[in-house]
Amino acid sequence: MSATYLMPTYNRQPISFTHGSGSWLYTKDDTPYLDALTGIAVCGLGHCHPQVTEAIQQQAATLLHTSNLFGIDWQERAGEALCTAAQMDSVFFANSGAEANEAALKLARLYAYNKGFKRPRVIVMEQSFHGRTLLSVSATANPKAREGFFTLDDDFIRVPFGDIAAIRQVAQDYDDICALFVEPIQGEGGVNTANNGFTYLEELQAECDAHDWLFMLDEVQTGNGRTGKYFAYQHSDACPDVLTTAKGLGNGFPVGACMVRGRAKDLFSAGSHGSTYGGTPLASRVVHSVYDVLTNSGIMENAVREGQFIRDSLVSELQQYGVSSRGAGTMIGIVLPETTDCSALVDKARDEQKLIINVTGSHVIRLLPPLNIRREESIQVVERLVDLLNPLL
Ligand SMILES: Cc1ncc(COP(=O)(O)O)c(C=O)c1O
Repeated sequence: MSATYLMPTYNRQPISFTHGSGSWLYTKDDTPYLDALTGIAVCGLGHCHPQVTEAIQQQAATLLHTSNLFGIDWQERAGEALCTAAQMDSVFFANSGAEANEAALKLARLYAYNKGFKRPRVIVMEQSFHGRTLLSVSATANPKAREGFFTLDDDFIRVPFGDIAAIRQVAQDYDDICALFVEPIQGEGGVNTANNGFTYLEELQAECDAHDWLFMLDEVQTGNGRTGKYFAYQHSDACPDVLTTAKGLGNGFPVGACMVRGRAKDLFSAGSHGSTYGGTPLASRVVHSVYDVLTNSGIMENAVREGQFIRDSLVSELQQYGVSSRGAGTMIGIVLPETTDCSALVDKARDEQKLIINVTGSHVIRLLPPLNIRREESIQVVERLVDLLNPLL
């Protein structure tokens, strides 16, 4: 496969897929690959979900775009659906996760500006990933993503993920903090969960409330049913002021969203933010169709059941090697011993097992199968991974 005209921003695997259905991807010659990655947590309803496909086809034949200079019926409907699912007051539609996060970080600055702060700072986490725009990559921890971009580091204070004492310490050290921005489970950073699970979010919210900081959650990866709730924070009693999401929001159609409530509700006004493509009739109708499937199909319960089955089965099959698991729903990290050579794992899984996986945080296999994966497919994920790992561990 030649990529001569494409900038080399990705180390692409030597394969391309021409069609997909449910949990399966196919090459031109119809070879099936079991997809336990779903476009990096994007196609949560599986590839080419019939209801989403129908919504795209109907809307493409009706109206694609008018701009945000006019009322957009489907945007209103998608907004109501999403805010209802998220328990938020209002939404700004963007086109990607990074854009949604850019909106969130701009909200934090406006919040600080309204308070008269000269040098506002946002608390972010070690191992975080928030996107590739200049501000979102500055909030990101990964040195590879940041190198060479003159990141805006003075805007952020970085603390260890899961460490509430570190937050309390910076609250004492700085008087110009305006917000805290965190992923409920860190995806790119290694499927990291806090030691006390989602209770961590409640502790974070308590700190934010105590200091009048915006409590902002990046649910770009964890949102839209991925962890078994519509949004991961709903596993806890916490509720953010600002909530971003993307990935599963469009099941493969590019769309992002930044939602607000409470303290963050009235920060943006006409002219303070915008996007030509944000919330087109097509994108909004897709968001609405994904919402319909998520709320009317038992699919999130399936994600909990199958995610647990995959995790338990792998840990039990590989227990002699000290393999453990973390995550929630179909956001799964299989933690291999640190000494494991994972360099060829993705290639071997693909070529030898016809299984699509990802490795993150150096020795963690990241599995992001569709939320509606069937039991016989979950069994195959487990069997193929066990066959792959047994000779390597
Ligand atoms: C938690 C999180 N935030 C933001 C992003 C960036 O999203 P996008 O690539 O759609 O800009 C990602 C992408 O992996 C992510 O996982």
